[in-house]
Amino acid sequence: MAYIPDEKRYERMVYRRCGRSGLMLPEISLGLWHNFGDITPFGQQQSILRTAFDCGITHFDLANNYGPPYGEAERNFGIHMDRDWHTHRDELVISTKAGYDMWPGPYGDHGSRKYLISSLDQSLKRMHVDYVDIFYHHRPDPDTPIEETMGALDSIVRSGKALYVGISNYKPEEARVAIDTLRALGTPCLIEQPSYSMLNRWIEDGLTDVLREKGVGCICFAPLQNGILTGKYLNGIPADSRAAHDPRYLKPQAITDDKLKKVALLNEIALERGQKLSQLALSWVLRDEVVTSALIGASRPEQIIENIEAVHNTAFTDDELKRIDDILKG
Ligand SMILES: NC(=O)c1ccc[n+]([C@@H]2O[C@H](COP(=O)([O-])OP(=O)(O)OC[C@H]3O[C@@H](n4cnc5c(N)ncnc54)[C@H](OP(=O)(O)O)[C@@H]3O)[C@@H](O)[C@H]2O)c1
Repeated sequence: MAYIPDEKRYERMVYRRCGRSGLMLPEISLGLWHNFGDITPFGQQQSILRTAFDCGITHFDLANNYGPPYGEAERNFGIHMDRDWHTHRDELVISTKAGYDMWPGPYGDHGSRKYLISSLDQSLKRMHVDYVDIFYHHRPDPDTPIEETMGALDSIVRSGKALYVGISNYKPEEARVAIDTLRALGTPCLIEQPSYSMLNRWIEDGLTDVLREKGVGCICFAPLQNGILTGKYLNGIPADSRAAHDPRYLKPQAITDDKLKKVALLNEIALERGQKLSQLALSWVLRDEVVTSALIGASRPEQIIENIEAVHNTAFTDDELKRIDDILKG
């Protein structure tokens, strides 16, 4: 059936400026790392994407190697584009990345100009789009000169194949050098994409200072710590959860008693704030304006409907923040 988006979608979301750019991103964005490969029924993928857009999520994040198998999330997204999204292309911010292993041999990994430019060409074909809004270098590559990697991003913007570029998983000093190198080439770095959640606070140790100083946006991936911060693992591993059905990146042994103890205590604070734990976890990463967007995954539409409510409750009292810090340090 033809998709007609919810007319009220833009009232349901809050948008933030991405660093000192002109681009606004939704406070919650959707990633297609999981649930868009060949193990998820197409109809389910479609309803996740449609629900996200109906909730005001205008940003879909991909990478060359999302699947399984590698490339499949982009290939499936290309079919979704043809069915639902071409008529809404100008309402969407679509991103993809290259930087991890993608194809065999020396040209399908890391940060060379050869890899990045050919990978983006492949991604555009798979996704049935002429350009992406954001193209990222997916992780730093210390063996390739930063001038080459950032030079490739600059060329990509000038070629019109991406409107903006970003970096992902760069540490503070690596980010500073990359941002300055891009700026010297005349192409601003729009955004950094690091991991960040209540259980993973490394970006507070220097990266957010660099991004604030340089006016670069920040989209935090895995803000729910792969689902652990929803409380779904408090009573064991549910059969329909990531840890049970797709444990490549969430191994059951990563769900430790220490984390679960913290999750149970955080759940009490969530209840006091009138939130679900997932909403608290998302509100918390959005408490600092340096974070432009929280980049979630979802295995079903209901999760998105629950999660987006976080954007209406991102203010914390000093007492709440202190209690949360005490739990997380405990
Ligand atoms: N740049 C990078 O290197 C990098 C790395 C990783 C991810 N990313 C990006 O970040 C995105 C998000 O990563 P992620 O999926 O790990 O993030 P996440 O938001 O921490 O975890 C999402 C998972 O948690 C569960 N979940 C979400 N909401 C829920 C709710 N309300 N109740 C119960 N369970 C819920 C779902 O898994 P189940 O229902 O299956 O349990 C869902 O797939 C990726 O898609 C990708 O775009 C980037």
